[in-house]
Amino acid sequence: MRLAVLADIHGNLPALQSVLAELERIQPDAVVVNGDLINPVPYNGEVIDYIRNTDWAVVRGNHEFYLLDFGTERAIPGSEDPVRWGSLHWLVRNVSSEQAQYLAALPDERTLYFPATQPIRMAHGVPGRNRVGFYQQQPAEKILLEIRDIPQRTIISAHTHVQVDRQLCLPTARDPLSNPHGEDGHYPPETGPQTGGYWHLLNPGSVGLPLEKDTRAAFAVLESVPESVERGGWRVTHHRVEYDRRPALEAFSTSGLLEAGGPIATIFYWELVTAEPEIVDYYRWCHRNGYDADGDLTGAFAAYVQATGRDAYVRQRDPLHNRALTR
Ligand SMILES: [Fe+2]
Repeated sequence: MRLAVLADIHGNLPALQSVLAELERIQPDAVVVNGDLINPVPYNGEVIDYIRNTDWAVVRGNHEFYLLDFGTERAIPGSEDPVRWGSLHWLVRNVSSEQAQYLAALPDERTLYFPATQPIRMAHGVPGRNRVGFYQQQPAEKILLEIRDIPQRTIISAHTHVQVDRQLCLPTARDPLSNPHGEDGHYPPETGPQTGGYWHLLNPGSVGLPLEKDTRAAFAVLESVPESVERGGWRVTHHRVEYDRRPALEAFSTSGLLEAGGPIATIFYWELVTAEPEIVDYYRWCHRNGYDADGDLTGAFAAYVQATGRDAYVRQRDPLHNRALTR
């Protein structure tokens, strides 16, 4: 049994199409999508329409909620601000009610029980919280605090846009070398550490907006294997597919998103060019330098660009500006 795992497509139809071509070659038995189908690359309707006509198992991510919660009491405070949230306003205008209804009826998580395999738990973050994310180099203790109540041993997460393949064990009571307090902190006193738990934690990376300085579309294939080969019963192969990003980059202007979305749309565009986490860097820079990142977005972003020279850095790597680049 081979399972293709896609996540964080973020409206990037050209990236999805490159992955589809690769799936045609791989011929997996099933395909799952672990959230964030939409926003910010401006082919949201096309991505939703493609996916809703497949038999894939799909869950929602936090970006689906930005759309579904908009204009309700659950909306992000301040999301009526057209400068800070112009990109979301553009999204709301450009997803049809039919397409939104498809997203509205998706589950937030799934447990996959394919015949003759071990179960897999899938959620965009962790079950119940879609904005928790994991990294390959993160201390195991921090990850275990988030996943130790999950009964399934194979967990598919997403959200961070980086590929992860981690084996995690809670220390066993009889292990004389184990540190019951973990390496970098204490387990919450009300529960104490469980002992002997094991999990295989995966993130396929992002199809449409990878953030590991590698601009190729990322996805993963899981293959069911005997427990003796891989604990939890699933072996992972990470994949990367090169594709022409120019249509997606051009669409930012031709769709009107770049103009309507202000600095936030520009930051997303830059992330698509560089595969670097520009939005995180921008917020960190504002925090360090005493700027109000949201309240005075236009002024703070101008100061950020002035101080870091990021516009020139991105332009050099942008295939729409640097003709030496063809993708
Ligand atoms: Fe995402």
